[in-house]
Amino acid sequence: MTSANSAYTDGIVAVTGASRGLGAEIAMALAERGFTVGCLSRKGIGLEQGEPSEGLKKRMINLACDVTDEASIAAALAELDGREGGLRYLINNAGIHLLGASRDFSNDDFRQVLETNVIGAFAAARAAYPYLRAQSHGSAIINIGSFFDRLATPHNTAYSASKAALGAMNRCLAAEWAKDGISVVNVAPGYIDTDIARDYLAQDEVKAYFARRVPIGRPSQSEEVADFTARLLQGDLTLLTGETIYVDGGHSIDHGRV
Ligand SMILES: NC(=O)c1ccc[n+]([C@@H]2O[C@H](COP(=O)([O-])OP(=O)(O)OC[C@H]3O[C@@H](n4cnc5c(N)ncnc54)[C@H](OP(=O)(O)O)[C@@H]3O)[C@@H](O)[C@H]2O)c1
Repeated sequence: MTSANSAYTDGIVAVTGASRGLGAEIAMALAERGFTVGCLSRKGIGLEQGEPSEGLKKRMINLACDVTDEASIAAALAELDGREGGLRYLINNAGIHLLGASRDFSNDDFRQVLETNVIGAFAAARAAYPYLRAQSHGSAIINIGSFFDRLATPHNTAYSASKAALGAMNRCLAAEWAKDGISVVNVAPGYIDTDIARDYLAQDEVKAYFARRVPIGRPSQSEEVADFTARLLQGDLTLLTGETIYVDGGHSIDHGRV
């Protein structure tokens, strides 16, 4: 990649799951920084909450895309690559979370989590590859993982396994595609106050747990994680490729105290 910041904003960023939660915030954070953003979600109607300014709207392209459907991903990414600058970055953010005791958790539910969180991300990366490789100033894939990839989290077997698999995929793609100029980085947040976690985080005992157990004393806001993720695309990721970056306020590295 070149060192001029404006050069990083050339080309289009596809963000999967950009209709709400973290994906919507990432799309906004990128558009605010001058990137042109393809906002992909199953409904394809763009951000479901909050109205971006007219200036930002011009840099946001809303497309329908189900990451569990290969043809749908291929069509959305081809559409973006056909636009000025071509597809240069992919943010694999779309994800689902199914909670349940392992003894009762069905294979169908397990498959559904893997289909969206891992196979969907892989299919998007594979579909994006020829476009990203064709970019002459470097390109990148950012996967949105989770700190659950390295924790024992009861009732989260499928989700944790999906995020661990995503981290493994991240490393393999990074090694395979570095010489094609494609950097691949996994951003692994802790708890974020979005729909996926809101009911859990609203409980008094969970709030008390956060105050006591998490170094920063609280979950993250989606704006914070989005800001971090967007800033990654404004710099050279070459030497970071393959890494998982934990953005969890120290939650997963703190042993805790009595
Ligand atoms: N919230 C947390 O505490 C937390 C912590 C760590 C990591 N994460 C990760 O952060 C990412 C975003 O999570 P979030 O909290 O923002 O969740 P969210 O609020 O539930 O949003 C999920 C997004 O994914 C989209 N999506 C779901 N299935 C899809 C599919 N098959 N195809 C395309 N889009 C799909 C949804 O859009 P449609 O339903 O409109 O398609 C929505 O835009 C996920 O990968 C999640 O695992 C979240």
